[in-house]
Amino acid sequence: MSRIPESTIHEIRNRGDIVALVSRYVELKQAGRNWKGLCPFHNEKTPSFNVNPDRQIFHCFGCQEGGDVIAFLMKHDGLSFPEATRTLAGELGIEIPEDRDGSDAGTTAGIFEANRLAQSLYRESLRAPEGKIARNYLVSRGFDGASADEFDIGFAPARWDAVADELRANRVKGDIGVQAGLLAERKSGKGHYDRLRGRLTFPIQDVRGRVIGFGGRALESDQEPKYLNTPESPVFHKRQALYGYPAALEPIRRSGRVILCEGYFDRIAFARAGMGEALATCGTALTAEHAAQVRRRAREVVLVFDGDSAGQQATEKALTVLLPHGLRVRAAQIPGGADPDDYLNKEGEDALRRLVDDAPDALELSIRNAMRQGVASPDQKADVVAHVAPLIASVSDAVSRDEYVRRLAMAIDASTSAVGAIVRDAARGRTPTPQVDQETLGLVRERRDAPEERQLRALARMCLQHPALVGDETALTLANILPAGAWKSIILQIIEAANEGLLRPADSESDSRSVDAFLIESRLDEEARLRLREIAIDETPFDSERSEERVLEDLVGWFERRRLEARQRELNQRMRDPNEDQDALLAEKQAQLLERRARLGVGSSGSA
Ligand code: UTP
Ligand code: MN
Repeated sequence: MSRIPESTIHEIRNRGDIVALVSRYVELKQAGRNWKGLCPFHNEKTPSFNVNPDRQIFHCFGCQEGGDVIAFLMKHDGLSFPEATRTLAGELGIEIPEDRDGSDAGTTAGIFEANRLAQSLYRESLRAPEGKIARNYLVSRGFDGASADEFDIGFAPARWDAVADELRANRVKGDIGVQAGLLAERKSGKGHYDRLRGRLTFPIQDVRGRVIGFGGRALESDQEPKYLNTPESPVFHKRQALYGYPAALEPIRRSGRVILCEGYFDRIAFARAGMGEALATCGTALTAEHAAQVRRRAREVVLVFDGDSAGQQATEKALTVLLPHGLRVRAAQIPGGADPDDYLNKEGEDALRRLVDDAPDALELSIRNAMRQGVASPDQKADVVAHVAPLIASVSDAVSRDEYVRRLAMAIDASTSAVGAIVRDAARGRTPTPQVDQETLGLVRERRDAPEERQLRALARMCLQHPALVGDETALTLANILPAGAWKSIILQIIEAANEGLLRPADSESDSRSVDAFLIESRLDEEARLRLREIAIDETPFDSERSEERVLEDLVGWFERRRLEARQRELNQRMRDPNEDQDALLAEKQAQLLERRARLGVGSSGSA
């Protein structure tokens, strides 16, 4: 896919309306300059989710999610940056110039078109006379016509040229059909034939509902293999693809969880039982790409693999893939070696729902399973720990990791320190997790209420909202007196941006939205950006009693005093050290006192 030009991205950010976009999904109420609602990214009962139309950003004080229109769509719909950008561009009528030299875009569009044509042919064929065999099969598995329709199930006719003809009739080149994986080239080199023949078809779609590939199930017992999928293509990457989109998006959001399973029929079984949040891998094991994608949409995964021993192994493998991404994982065990679809047909919807709702914590389950080999002898205990340690090591959150160590140690009656050491060993050589660092977020939250932190935030907010007040002189002073750290660099960058004319005062009537560009494009790291967003969205007035100039002055004064006090403490410390030159220190102290008097007035060391 071609790159989207910067200017187009700018235009989308400038013309997008974040309040309108968010309102599609969240009920917003106006509160001052902001709009507030219940955060769509975490569960809450009182609104901490803010949308600011002036700056065109959103921010949640509960879960710290935030950003601009593009970021909202990415997070909400689980789209990639180009996907979200293209979607918004489409809605705003902004044209994205296609980069012709690669001609990738043309091929990709062609492949989607070929898949779309194949899908409608398959659906029609299921209803046509030649589809009788497939309809009978579906009936034998408990489907009627309506439910087959609902899940887009189709039938690939048992002919060699059904799709080939359909594509040709619609002027899609055979070569595109080959690239889509629908057709194969004849040995003779002349012409093409259909890959899927005489099979039930399941369209595999991306989150936008475009068909990226197909799964095809055999209808006769001698037909091999049982499932034939279309191959990898420029739009079908099996390491990323999950079957069940886009229908699963809304149920995932509502339930806050993803049910992961291994079969097309299994995903459908969950949906029929009212659990539309199920997704299935497409003939591959679960990958880190799948995990990252799932994490963008939900915190919790329920694994429901086949109830046999292969299913159990798959569950543990999936665990090591999912846990590093900070997902909570539970695993349902289906009694009697059945798969979810078998279980639904035998036991009914309620039973399947209970199985998912009551699924135990997957890691606990693994510990219990490992313990079945016995834990009487020291060797047996060591075996259990060796088996489970890599799973515990992959838990991304340090607190819950410790908790599992404790539980395992208790369960097998071993010392926590010994089990902990083995888990740490197992953790070595693991690559660090790519996800949002929950610990950092926790720290940010905790520090928020410390007095210095409060003052720093206020100062940063003042600089951002009233850039005109912060002249060169203040900037120099601040560079000297602010404590080193994230806030200092944020504040100095705000002032720099102000001097470059990139900031607009909060109460200005102009509709230039340069502030968000600064927010988004600044060279700050993720944690700093999060802080910047928090203060940018906070437009509560500073102090009705005092002028802004006065508030700023007081803030600067507060930090000057802190700085002087710190220097004084340091000096006192050195004066207790007999190796220091006491006369020089005394002179320095005198000078400091004078400076203090001159700048702040006598003895003013109270708080601001
Ligand atoms: P299973 O063999 O467990 O079949 O394959 P299933 O899902 O229960 O199918 P039914 O109920 O017999 O129709 C699970 C998944 O593994 C992939 C498919 O994605 C299938 O849904 N698979 C299986 C293949 O890709 N190729 C195969 O030959 C078999
Ligand atoms: Mn099955």
